[in-house]
Amino acid sequence: VRVLVKVGGALLDAPATQEPLAGQIAALARQAELVVVHGGGRQLTRHLSERGVQSRFVQGLRVTTPEVLDAVLHVLTGINQHFVAALNRAGARAVGLSGMDGRLVEAQPLDAALGSVGRVTHVDPALLHSLLGAGFLPVIACLAGDRAGRFYNVNADQLAAACAVAFQAEQLIFLTDVEGVLDAQGARLPQLTLAQSEALITAGTIHGGMLAKLRAAREALRGGVRQVRITAAFAAPGTLLAA
Ligand SMILES: Nc1ncnc2c1ncn2[C@@H]1O[C@H](COP(=O)(O)OP(=O)(O)OP(=O)(O)O)[C@@H](O)[C@H]1O
Ligand SMILES: [Mg+2]
Repeated sequence: VRVLVKVGGALLDAPATQEPLAGQIAALARQAELVVVHGGGRQLTRHLSERGVQSRFVQGLRVTTPEVLDAVLHVLTGINQHFVAALNRAGARAVGLSGMDGRLVEAQPLDAALGSVGRVTHVDPALLHSLLGAGFLPVIACLAGDRAGRFYNVNADQLAAACAVAFQAEQLIFLTDVEGVLDAQGARLPQLTLAQSEALITAGTIHGGMLAKLRAAREALRGGVRQVRITAAFAAPGTLLAA
C-alpha cells in the first residue's frame, strides 16, 4: 500500500511531539510505501518575528518576499534535517529532500502579489520511486523549484496533495494540531464527503489552515487518491493505517 503522510509544522516544533511521531512514522514505513511531506509555518513566523519581520498572509498564503524566501529555505531545511535525524534514531533510513531535488516538484508563481509563493505545475515521482525501491524513506520539505533553479514557497498541504497524486498514493494522511475537522459546535466530524466539506466552507465553519487542507484534500481525491484522513498525531496510537 502507498501512503503519503503530511506532518504539520507545529508537531515538529518540540522534541516531546517530534520523537514519538518519528517512532510512529518509522513503524508505518515498515508496513507501507511511505512518503512524508512537512510544513513549518509556526517556526517560520517565529524566525521572522525574531528578526523584526511581520508575516503577512493573503487567503492563508504567506506573502513571500526575497527576504522571506531566504528564511523559508533556512527554516525548512533545518526542520527537515532534524526530523530526518529523529526518524533515523527511530530506525528508518530517512532522506531529506525539497521539491527542488531531482526536479521532484516544479512550480510557477501563483500570483505576483504573493512574491515567491508557488503553484505546483508538475510532480515527477521518479526520485521517490528510486528511493523507496532502495529502502529509503523520502521526507520532503514544502519547497518547489523551476527549471531556472528558482525556489518557490508552496503550501505544504498543496504540495502533499500533488505528491500523493503523482505517487499514486491510496491514502493521504494529514497529521495536524487539532483532532480533525470540527463543526460549528467544535465537535469532531468523523467522516466527511466532498459535498459536506464544501458546505462547511461556504458556511464559514472552516477557515485558515483547515481551509487550505480541505482544498488540498479535494485535489487529492479528484486526482485518484482513495481516502484522505485529517487527524491529530496521536489520536489512535499505532493505527495510523486504519482503513
Ligand atoms: N473547522 C475547523 N476544524 C478544525 N480546525 C480548523 C477549523 N477551522 C479552522 N481551523 C484551524 O486550522 C488549523 C490547522 O491548520 P494549520 O495550517 O494551522 O496546521 P498544519 O497545516 O497542520 O501545519 P502547517 O501549516 O505548519 O503545515 C487548526 O489548528 C485550526 O486553528
Ligand atoms: Mg497548514
